[in-house]
Amino acid sequence: MASQLFQTKNIDQLIADAERPDRRLKKTLGWVSLTALGIGAIIGSGIFILTGTAAAGEVDRYPSILHAPLLSVLIHGSHAVGVNGRPGAGPGIALSFFIVACVCGLAGLCYAELASMIPIAGSAYTYTYATLGEFIAWIIGWDLILEYAVSNMAVAVGFAAYVNNLLGTFGIRIPDALGLPAYDPAIGWKLRFNLLGFLIVMFLTVLLVRGIRESAGANNIMVAIKLVAIVVFCVVASHYVHPSNWKPFMPNGWQGVLTGGAIVFFTYIGFDSVSTAAEECKNPKRDMPLGILCSLGVCAVFYVAVALVLTGIQHWDTLNNAAPVANALEAIGLKMTDRWVTVGALMGMVSSILVFQIGQARIWFAMARDGLLPKAFARVHPKYRTPDYATWVAGFFVAIPAGIFNIGTLADLTNIGTLFAFILVSVAVLVLRKKQPDRPRSFRVPLSPVIPIAAVAFCFILMASLTVENWLRFVVWLLIGQAIYFLYSRHHSELRLAAAAGDRSVTAAPAENS
Ligand code: ALA
Repeated sequence: MASQLFQTKNIDQLIADAERPDRRLKKTLGWVSLTALGIGAIIGSGIFILTGTAAAGEVDRYPSILHAPLLSVLIHGSHAVGVNGRPGAGPGIALSFFIVACVCGLAGLCYAELASMIPIAGSAYTYTYATLGEFIAWIIGWDLILEYAVSNMAVAVGFAAYVNNLLGTFGIRIPDALGLPAYDPAIGWKLRFNLLGFLIVMFLTVLLVRGIRESAGANNIMVAIKLVAIVVFCVVASHYVHPSNWKPFMPNGWQGVLTGGAIVFFTYIGFDSVSTAAEECKNPKRDMPLGILCSLGVCAVFYVAVALVLTGIQHWDTLNNAAPVANALEAIGLKMTDRWVTVGALMGMVSSILVFQIGQARIWFAMARDGLLPKAFARVHPKYRTPDYATWVAGFFVAIPAGIFNIGTLADLTNIGTLFAFILVSVAVLVLRKKQPDRPRSFRVPLSPVIPIAAVAFCFILMASLTVENWLRFVVWLLIGQAIYFLYSRHHSELRLAAAAGDRSVTAAPAENS
């Protein structure tokens, strides 16, 4: 069994397949195009929503160790128990945005090395299957479900909040039973369902099943609209900043800044998609790190600016609501600007849901082709030529929880899973430097092992800054994943079946890669 867990796909075969003239992708991308791709993937709904709750924190009405950040419990023991609940970063959220961008940069360099070593269009799931073996690949694939599906639930909830806000400016109000989530950690369970969150995902699912294409042109327009919305907010609202709102800058010290950082980490998720374009890069050695770092840098500048303006126009402790940017604009009397910014934000959210739903269905499709998920997920619709089954399941899988949970719960779960995937990717770089030192890499992480180790350490600090409750949810998620792997996937793995049939072209024994 151990040999199956660490059995890898044959890298040489994968690369040879990708290099076949009929399959080779055009190498056209430079660092500017990579940066644009990255910005499009990174900016979604997080900046318009999570900045508020991360700055304001959350008062714990029912003090419990479950609601305290793990790091705080590790340092202060039982004294950490929710006297204040989750500490807010205050205006220091701007600093959180900067720190998180640096941590993502470290992990991004590790992604770039793996992608350049196995320059095959794909995700971390493909890289690890070819290098660290089936079991780790399964864990990453299972984690990517958190990154793609759960983050999309969060974006859908954010979408609903901004539509509600927009309708509100025209005097239209959706009743709470159909406009708010069933679960909110501050008040517990209620008989409610966030209908708009559910509907937007199902509407996009129908479009995806019928074969709407990810069109680069439409995507660029959406990206431009998102950026204009952010610039309009910063420029117009900056005239209403009261510097007194920035004092004190870090009301809860570093604990607040770190916990805020662990929440707004969500806003940077998506930059890893840049590394998946390694195969189409003109000069991966130079363009890949530049593309990743520039897209993170540009987003960091926008995010820090929004954070400073938002906490400058409204006191930080009033920002814990579902649509903080829109509500702050309304509170200072800028109703028209509020409408325009809201429309821009909504467009950004739709494009983000679309891109992530496509990615989600593709990962399930790839995992099913490898036999790790039921074959139905790899089915292609006879007429529309889309992975219809995977797309429908992904639709319901995302839409139903989007109606039930609040955005904070969903974003935190996304963050912990994605940070864990980043840790595995950084460890993979270290392991492969040792096990396969001679395999060509068109890009190498500089200063290795310092950067991969720093990436692991900082990602762990951010993970530990999330609450104990969130850690428990994540452990349960991983245990469910293990159960599925050992009860189903291991027995149906195509790699195992090929190995049993003695087909050496698709498998490489663990020893061969070591
Ligand atoms: N980074 C994406 C967002 O903020 C997930 O919506």
